[in-house]
Amino acid sequence: MSEAARHELPDLAAMAAFGARLAERLKVGDVIALEGGLGAGKTTLARGIIAALGYTSEVPSPTFTIIETYDAPPVRLPIVHADFYRLNDPAEVEEIGLDDYREGAAMIAEWPDHAGGFSHEAACLSILLETAKTGRIAIARGGGDWLGRMP
Ligand SMILES: Nc1ncnc2c1ncn2[C@@H]1O[C@H](COP(=O)(O)OP(=O)(O)OP(=O)(O)O)[C@@H](O)[C@H]1O
Ligand SMILES: [Mg+2]
Repeated sequence: MSEAARHELPDLAAMAAFGARLAERLKVGDVIALEGGLGAGKTTLARGIIAALGYTSEVPSPTFTIIETYDAPPVRLPIVHADFYRLNDPAEVEEIGLDDYREGAAMIAEWPDHAGGFSHEAACLSILLETAKTGRIAIARGGGDWLGRMP
């Protein structure tokens, strides 16, 4: 695990800019695990990343579908955007066929703990979003694969 990197994100523009920083660094095989409670800004940050990767249409929240996928092109690399909130048991990850979705793609995961968590993977960057007086604070911690490319 890397040292924690702290980012102040006072408004939606800062959130979009942070999403763009993450998008620049993203590689196939990565997981960006977005942690934080209801309304913390996980989907907002996921949208910022996906937009910066080149997706120009509206990015739906995967709240009900659990998984949304984005092909390259138009995005720079294939993306799986997951929201595991509705999983009742981490074992359901296998039923969904998550490994097949992740093959050759990078994943952005909301509520990663509901899927058993991904921070044991060297390619996982965990980002905890917390509500601040104005906007949000992000605390990023990366696995070994993120050394030298922390946002
Ligand atoms: N940096 C920010 N500053 C101010 N408002 C923000 C910021 N980031 C997100 N928001 C606002 O917070 C609200 C909730 O954001 P969002 O839906 O992304 O949260 P979430 O973590 O995905 O929630 P859920 O757990 O319900 O899926 C939205 O109205 C969004 O515009
Ligand atoms: Mg969400």
